[in-house]
Amino acid sequence: MLQIRDVGKLLNTRKARVLACLALLLFAAGGVAIGDVYLRNLFPFLDSTGFSATNSTSGSIDLSSAFFQSLGTNGRTCGTCHAPSDGFGLSAVDAQIRYHLSQGKDPLFAQVDGSTCPTGPINNSLVVNYGLIRVGIQVPPNQFSSNPAQYTITAVRDPYGCALTTNPQGEQTVSAYRRPLPSTNLGFLSAVMFDGRESFFNPLNNVQTFQADLNVDLTQQAIDATLGHAQAVQAPTDSQLADIVSLEMALNSAQLYDFNAGNLYRQKGSYGGPQYLPSQEYYPGINDSLGGDPEGKQFDLNVFTIYNSWQNSRNRQQASIARGEQIFNTQPLTISNVPGLVTGSQQITGTCTTCHDTPNVGNHSFPLPLDIGNGRSLAYETDPNIIAGIKQLSPATMPVFQLVCNQGPLAGQTFYTTDPGKALITGQCSDIGRGKGLILRGLAARAPYFHNGAAANLSQVVNFYSKRFQMNLSSQQIQDLINFLQTL
Ligand code: HEC
Ligand code: HEC
Repeated sequence: MLQIRDVGKLLNTRKARVLACLALLLFAAGGVAIGDVYLRNLFPFLDSTGFSATNSTSGSIDLSSAFFQSLGTNGRTCGTCHAPSDGFGLSAVDAQIRYHLSQGKDPLFAQVDGSTCPTGPINNSLVVNYGLIRVGIQVPPNQFSSNPAQYTITAVRDPYGCALTTNPQGEQTVSAYRRPLPSTNLGFLSAVMFDGRESFFNPLNNVQTFQADLNVDLTQQAIDATLGHAQAVQAPTDSQLADIVSLEMALNSAQLYDFNAGNLYRQKGSYGGPQYLPSQEYYPGINDSLGGDPEGKQFDLNVFTIYNSWQNSRNRQQASIARGEQIFNTQPLTISNVPGLVTGSQQITGTCTTCHDTPNVGNHSFPLPLDIGNGRSLAYETDPNIIAGIKQLSPATMPVFQLVCNQGPLAGQTFYTTDPGKALITGQCSDIGRGKGLILRGLAARAPYFHNGAAANLSQVVNFYSKRFQMNLSSQQIQDLINFLQTL
């Protein structure tokens, strides 16, 4: 195994950067693990602004674990879509490299969900260009909800011909196209999957049962992923499942090194990098911005404190990162029309940390799925702030669904979205478009962003927020916030 001992020295030469890049490519290209190979803790993987890395509390990452084994019929492993080189997510650049190196034969592009439709002509454009995987979910009644949905759903735009399919029994299945969520930093989750479906029966909202619930949820998730993504004919064995979950649960990933700011961990008192994460305190509801911390502690809007000590640093990049952290924590924004948080004409003044409240990790610490509007369609949207926000993004061409509500408190209303989110799990109109707030560590390794990959880079993310929530950030503030996010 190639070992790179001193990142600082390595970066001094251009040739060395090219070598590191080659190492990354070799790693990314090899989908299957070869017996008894270990990935050294903190092995640096090149990204556009530095290196990301993963730390395992078991000392190294066992590349012969069931996580990296083909347990199904199409050659895929969990590592196909959760790549160590991409912070255990999948960057679109990686998908492109694999597509070209394998001429489309890499198991990532298996038709079941690596193509826009599971049948008919193969079209890998969404995974190649956006890293998007097709997620097919049956409209309720389904395994989660025995009642019929409160809405009738139709596809008003169907670019790939399988937005909504109906089987002979009359059951409808929706195709949503979503980004693989990183299978790392899992000890900080409050919901599993964008729509929380894998934590639906064992929700992650109880301090006492959190570890046990998370274990049950991740075990079920691994079964479903093997039967679904890997097209296995039978579920993994108990020991394979335990192997997968214990590997995942040991991982923490983050940016390790920034080309302009240097080491992110323990440089002049900083606490970036994955090294500190195993000792970061977490329990469901910690620092809840809505006052739900089970220990009764008051919300502290200073959610990120890892670059505090870089305030006024003489290194310009470090100073900018510290300013970005402050902007993230404290810059006011106007939250309106976010189903799950505020509806109607209600408005609240918050910060990024109103929704990203888990200390130094950034997901929402309580299961509270929200619709911030980034999955709406410009052709049907009427809210001027959402329109202004979406215009900053470069979303893929997506199906658009019309949901007409005929039961419950929202009966009579019509909604349009590219992804019904949690409403496909519960069948409730109040859940339309809602999904969980994501963990913000390891961002630089896994562009594009948002569940639908609509933000090509962090600049689009920040410009979306600046318009969507009327932040009116200056160009310097935008740059500071980007510089901060890319060091997470
Ligand atoms: C074909 C690509 C693909 C493969 C293979 C794959 N996943 Fe995933 N994974 C995804 C996608 C896409 C999501 C997000 C789906 C959603 O939110 O609806 C996801 C989500 C997850 C999550 C949830 C993370 C979170 O924050 O909620 C975990 C954990 C996970 N996968 C683990 C695994 C494991 C374990 C395996 C192997 C058994 C595996 N995945 C195989 C694509 C894949
Ligand atoms: C009203 C709640 C809310 C506010 C305020 C908010 N976010 Fe988010 N954020 C979310 C939700 C929900 C998601 C998941 C959306 C999705 O995937 O489509 C998200 C996703 C993200 C992502 C994408 C992560 C990924 O892995 O793709 C980034 C980056 C991010 N937010 C940064 C910020 C920043 C920076 C701010 C402040 C300028 C901010 N957020 C303010 C709710 C919020």
